[in-house]
Amino acid sequence: MNAKNTDFGTFAQDVMLGLNSKPKTLPSKYFYDAKGDKLFQQIMALPEYYLTRKEYEILEGLHQEILANILALKKPFNLVELGAGDGLKTKILLRFLVNNKIAFSYYPVDFSGSVLEELEQSLAQELPGLEVTPIQSTYRDSLRHQEWENGNPNLILFLGANIGNFGVEEAKNIVDHLRVGTKKGDQVLLGFDLKKNPQTILDAYHDAQGVTREFNLNLLDRINRELGGDFDLESFVHWPSYDPVSGECRSHLVSKKSQLVSIEALNQTFDFEAYECIFTEISKKYSFSEINALALSGGFQVIENFTDSEGYFSDVLWRRT
Ligand code: AVJ
Repeated sequence: MNAKNTDFGTFAQDVMLGLNSKPKTLPSKYFYDAKGDKLFQQIMALPEYYLTRKEYEILEGLHQEILANILALKKPFNLVELGAGDGLKTKILLRFLVNNKIAFSYYPVDFSGSVLEELEQSLAQELPGLEVTPIQSTYRDSLRHQEWENGNPNLILFLGANIGNFGVEEAKNIVDHLRVGTKKGDQVLLGFDLKKNPQTILDAYHDAQGVTREFNLNLLDRINRELGGDFDLESFVHWPSYDPVSGECRSHLVSKKSQLVSIEALNQTFDFEAYECIFTEISKKYSFSEINALALSGGFQVIENFTDSEGYFSDVLWRRT
C-alpha cells in the first residue's frame, strides 16, 4: 500500500492539537481503526441509520443510468473511490461493469488500512479478474497525487455522505481538490444525505442500541490503547444534536464530572471541567440548492441527481468543465 497520511499529521499530533483546543475536539477520521470499522458496519445495519439503505436503493435501481454517462465516452476508464469502506454499495457498480466486460480499473482509496485489506480480499473472491489498486490515503492527499491518472477518463466516487463530515467551507475545499485532481470531462458521483424531518436525522445518530455511542467512545478507547491514555469511558455521555437551519448534526462527548486525563505518549494531562465537551463529528445534511451551489463553486456541471423514492438521500453526478 502506498501514500501515507500527511494531511494533518499523526494520530498523536492530532490528539494533542484537538485536546488543547477550546472547545476540545477530536477528528472523526480516527473513528476508523479495526474496532471502529466493525462498529460502523453495525451502524450501517441499524434500523435508525437509513443512509446506507437509501443509497443502496439508488445504486441498485439506477446504476445503469448512472454509469451510462461514463460508458458513453467509449473508452477504458478509471473508477476511483474515495472512502471505499467495505465496498458493499460499490460492488453493485463493479458487478455490472465486470458482467458486461467493460474495460476499467478500480482504485479504492481509504484512510483505514484494515478496511482496504478486507475489501481487496473480498473482491479477489467475488470478482476475480477485476483490476484493483488499493490506495491508503486521505481524500485530499490522494487527489493531490492522482496515482490513477493515465490519460483515461476518470469517474470518482465519493459516496456514503462522507462529504457530510466536513463543514460548508471545508466541503468547498474538498470540491476544489476534486477539481484539481481531475481533468476536463471527468465525472464525479457524490452521495449527499438530504435535509428531512429533524427527528429522523437525530435518531440516526442516537440509536436505541447505543452502537453510535460506542463508535464515538472508541475515539477515547483508541487513545487509551494506542497513546497510553487513561480516559474513563463511563464518565462521558455521547450527545448528538441536529440544527435544521444549518443542516449540521454534531456529536459530542460530554464529561460528566470535573476530571484529569493523562496521555502518556503526549506527556500531558488534560483538565476537564464538569460538562465540558469534546466535539467529535459533524454530519452535514444538504438541500439541493446547497448541493448545486457547491457544484458551481467548484467548476462542475450537474449531469443528474439520482434520489431514492422517499427523497432521503441523493447521489449526484457532476462533470468537470
Ligand atoms: C460515514 C461519515 C457517512 O456521518 O453518517 C455514522 C459516520 N457517524 N454514525 C455519517 C457516522 C455516526 C457517517 N459517515
